[in-house]
Amino acid sequence: MLGLRMSKVTAIRRGNTTGSPSDTSIIALDRFIQSTRDSGYKGTVSAIAELVDNSLEASARRIDIHVRKSTAGDDFEVSVLDDGTGMDAGTLTEALRFGGTTRFNSRKGLGRFGMGLPNASLSQAKRVDVFTWQSGESPITSYLDVDQIVSGTLSAIPKPIRHSLPSFAKGKKSGTLVVWTRCDRLDHRRVSTVEKRLHGGLGRIFRHFLWAGTVITLNGKVIEPVDPIFLKTSFGDGSAKRFQETITVEVATDPENPSSSVGQVEILFTELPVAEWHELSNDEKRSRGIANGAGVSVVRGKREVDFGWFFMGAKRRENYDDWWRGEIRFNPDLDDAFGITHTKQQIKPKDYLIEALQPIIEDTAKALNSRVRQKHLTLKTEKTGVEAEKLASRRHDRLRPIPKMKTQSGDTRALADLAGRHARVKEAITDKTPATKYLLVQDEQDNGAFYKPLVTDGVLVAVLNSSHLFFRKFYEPLVGQSGLDPAKASHVINLVLLAATRAEALMNTKDERKTLTKFRKEWSQVLDALLRS
Ligand SMILES: Nc1ncnc2c1ncn2[C@@H]1O[C@H](COP(=O)(O)OP(=O)(O)O)[C@@H](O)[C@H]1O
Ligand SMILES: [Mg+2]
Repeated sequence: MLGLRMSKVTAIRRGNTTGSPSDTSIIALDRFIQSTRDSGYKGTVSAIAELVDNSLEASARRIDIHVRKSTAGDDFEVSVLDDGTGMDAGTLTEALRFGGTTRFNSRKGLGRFGMGLPNASLSQAKRVDVFTWQSGESPITSYLDVDQIVSGTLSAIPKPIRHSLPSFAKGKKSGTLVVWTRCDRLDHRRVSTVEKRLHGGLGRIFRHFLWAGTVITLNGKVIEPVDPIFLKTSFGDGSAKRFQETITVEVATDPENPSSSVGQVEILFTELPVAEWHELSNDEKRSRGIANGAGVSVVRGKREVDFGWFFMGAKRRENYDDWWRGEIRFNPDLDDAFGITHTKQQIKPKDYLIEALQPIIEDTAKALNSRVRQKHLTLKTEKTGVEAEKLASRRHDRLRPIPKMKTQSGDTRALADLAGRHARVKEAITDKTPATKYLLVQDEQDNGAFYKPLVTDGVLVAVLNSSHLFFRKFYEPLVGQSGLDPAKASHVINLVLLAATRAEALMNTKDERKTLTKFRKEWSQVLDALLRS
């Protein structure tokens, strides 16, 4: 916007290229049109998104986009065809004007500044032609052409004329076709690259519309929704889960005015399935959008306007943050708070909005980060347990056989519970192979025990209580190889032995002593068998 305003000022002072030295028109059209081409849009995706916005506002249900090399030469051509309501001649003329709109300052939908169509078009192309037809009428057309404006042969919107659609387009009962020709400013020089960016970008920006049934195609191929928070996307090997309930924050639409209405911001968070996805290849992580995807998606109405590291305060972005996502939803009544400008491609939140959202989002981000970190650590330490598990399984048949148990219903229930939290346990108990499975599982337990065995036929699980000090001060640092001092480690082992001795001293009935003696003997024999190389 600033660039735009600057160029106007320059034009007033020195505006003499369009006409005579005495030209006093507010805008020096030739320069204005050239500098406006540079202003506003982040790139091809946001510029085309602008046209899609207009189609959606005209109630389109199907939008067909084409990007191709022009038949004439090396140039590109982009077209967007919709089945919306179409325009009459007056609206078409208005639509091509900078600032022309039928919804100035409206807070209902996607547009409101009247800059979208001309500004987005000329940011990518030297010429835009618009064909439009309302129910039962034949198409009318008008255009803007940068070269004609610069050379002074075009200074007003050409009067719309009746004209049939170009041969490539097949219109519905009503609709609009926008055609950009002489596209000299697309982000990429290859159609395939532009296609790729558009599938990703538009799929994401308009995902809520696509889920609701709007069809957008690109060169004949349907654009699929892209879900940056993974709530509706799964890959058959795990899916993201909601973290906490949706949080609603009320924000004044005009903080200067106490009687202004209140707008609502909805915030939701998701956690990606770390256990299932952490071992995917880097390529796969990239193609699924996991790697480098940290941040929150900001959605205005049903359209994404930005994605990034917002409202996080002092929290820096780390790799672990790839594993959780957020979505912040608001309606256009809060446009001022979010700092939405006419291009709808980024937010510039006001301080009062940051004050309202940051405490929640920063805290949640920290909590989510530490959950992700913990999950990765758990996976790492569990991995080191796998050796031991395998060894125990292999030597199982050399040990004294375990009598067929009348399954203790307590353990079965506790195991089912555990299986709900740990995919490995679920796998083990549903596995039908005859081998007895041994598992070491880290789980937050509130029974106070530092470890607890859970056994059924064929599955023996040692549950390590991750909230016990033994785990936090010894097991995790040791097994996670985070540099536990050997002197400290031996100190802890010594204390474990003394604690066990002290505990036995309290068991003094004959039965208790008998059971303990048997337990200690059995434990020692199995340990001997497992340690033997
Ligand atoms: N695809 C379309 N179908 C129907 N009307 C359209 C379409 N594109 C643009 N218009 C009309 O042109 C006007 C100007 O569009 P635009 O420059 O994008 O501004 P805005 O969307 O902010 O109103 C819109 O208000 C609308 O009336
Ligand atoms: Mg618009």
